Amino acid sequence: MDFSIKAFDTRSTLGTAKSGCIAVAVFENKKLSPAAQALDSKGAISAALKSGDITGKPGSTLLLRAVDGVTAERVLLVGMGSEETVSEKSYTTGVQAALKVFGSLGAADAIIALPLGDVKERDVNWAIRCVVQAAHDGQYRCDSQKSKKDPAPAGVRKIVLSAPATAATRGALAQAIAIANGSNFTRNLGDLPANIATPTYLANTAKQLAKDYKFEVEVLDRKQLEALKMGSFLSVTNGSEQPPKFIVLKHMGGKAKDAPVVLVGKGITFDTGGISLKAGPGMDEMKYDMCGAASVLGTFRAIGEMNLKLNVIGVIAACENMPSGRATKPGDIVTSMNGLTIEILNTDAEGRLVLCDALTYAERFKPAVVVDIATLTGACVIALGHHNTGLFTRSDAAHDQLANELLAAGKQASDTAWRMPIEEAYNEQLKSNFADLGNIGSPGGGAVTAAAFLENFTKKYTWAHLDIAGTAWKSGAAKGATGRPVPLLSTFLLNRVQ
Ligand code: BES
Ligand code: MN
Ligand code: ZN
Repeated sequence: MDFSIKAFDTRSTLGTAKSGCIAVAVFENKKLSPAAQALDSKGAISAALKSGDITGKPGSTLLLRAVDGVTAERVLLVGMGSEETVSEKSYTTGVQAALKVFGSLGAADAIIALPLGDVKERDVNWAIRCVVQAAHDGQYRCDSQKSKKDPAPAGVRKIVLSAPATAATRGALAQAIAIANGSNFTRNLGDLPANIATPTYLANTAKQLAKDYKFEVEVLDRKQLEALKMGSFLSVTNGSEQPPKFIVLKHMGGKAKDAPVVLVGKGITFDTGGISLKAGPGMDEMKYDMCGAASVLGTFRAIGEMNLKLNVIGVIAACENMPSGRATKPGDIVTSMNGLTIEILNTDAEGRLVLCDALTYAERFKPAVVVDIATLTGACVIALGHHNTGLFTRSDAAHDQLANELLAAGKQASDTAWRMPIEEAYNEQLKSNFADLGNIGSPGGGAVTAAAFLENFTKKYTWAHLDIAGTAWKSGAAKGATGRPVPLLSTFLLNRVQ
């Protein structure tokens, strides 16, 4: 999709604009938006509204052809709900509906003259991102393994956004495109099956990204991980025939002296549970257990395209969690890279075992902050459902600030998180009779005890943990990766550029 921005004076130039289609908003009280009024010189639009053919409810649409007094071939009326307050939800629903119609038009170009600046509590930049994200969502395909490909995106290929063409809006458009590309990149990696998206595949993907966007990249293999004494990470890969990969990506776009932001991704390319084997039904979805890693790669795709002026380092611990004669057994005790010993009471609580060593490794970068991203616990899905990513940090001034930055970025990007507690009390639940820590907590608060486990490995820097178990993919008929939390992370990083 090709996007551009152009300022149309709604009172004159919109009516004479040459275009395949102009999308304008109408409201539930049968009122027309200013752009709709501009196209209504001969009363065709008010007549359509009066006829009751469109209700104005969010997402309702009516396509009019050859509207008297309008040069464009079509006018698409898009319901946006109540006139007084266009909510984020009704705007998004309207935009998605408009883009769906665009996809089935016999026209190649269109103008979006929906009220970009009138969304409640949102600015023009948000509205631009909303349109771009919806367009990219509509174009996403994951059919590389299908012999008969899904129908290619059709209809409108060129969209002109009716908005003030300033440096700010042009910048917002470029950022929106980069973020949407990054999040589709993440979706694609997530949707690939585990026999293709292996740890080696992720490492090669990181190398390719490094080539495309001039990142530094380093991939550590088993021998190097042994030398680093990553006994916890390595215990997870024991049962697998696929070699583990530890991936480090660097985008040093900031000043040399500035401490980097480090993103750490859980990259379990398939989670069978290991000897603590998972149940059969739905196990295919454990191919998504590398979505934390995929979101780091997608975020790098986005910041690479934006050439972000910030130092960012990505760290990915990638391996499979498989049962075998060599697999780690419940009760096994391992020594993590920072020296803490761990009694592995459940081999299915493997995410924290790979992350703890990656979090220790992150110390060497003297980070400004570290954010880990992981499909860590089913309990997080119970706690928050599929709307919010779980956000966990300690609570002191520095951590409250980091948490607030992440929450705000999530809101801004419509990729929200919800803050959860980390308190000393939860550490009690991780006590082991035989080692420094057990890898599972006593019953209750599974998402929090998982975060509390990780907290033991993050004492040397400011850190946040994002549990994306409920938000990284969808189950059921619409099964597929969502690309979350790439918009949240990219926006968080963008906001950190001074
Ligand atoms: N990858 C899973 C978490 C998960 C499960 C995410 C289902 C999304 C949907 C993780 O490795 C896991 O298995 N966690 C266990 C932890 C338990 C054994 C303490 C879980 O959540 O059941
Ligand atoms: Mn598991
Ligand atoms: Zn897992």
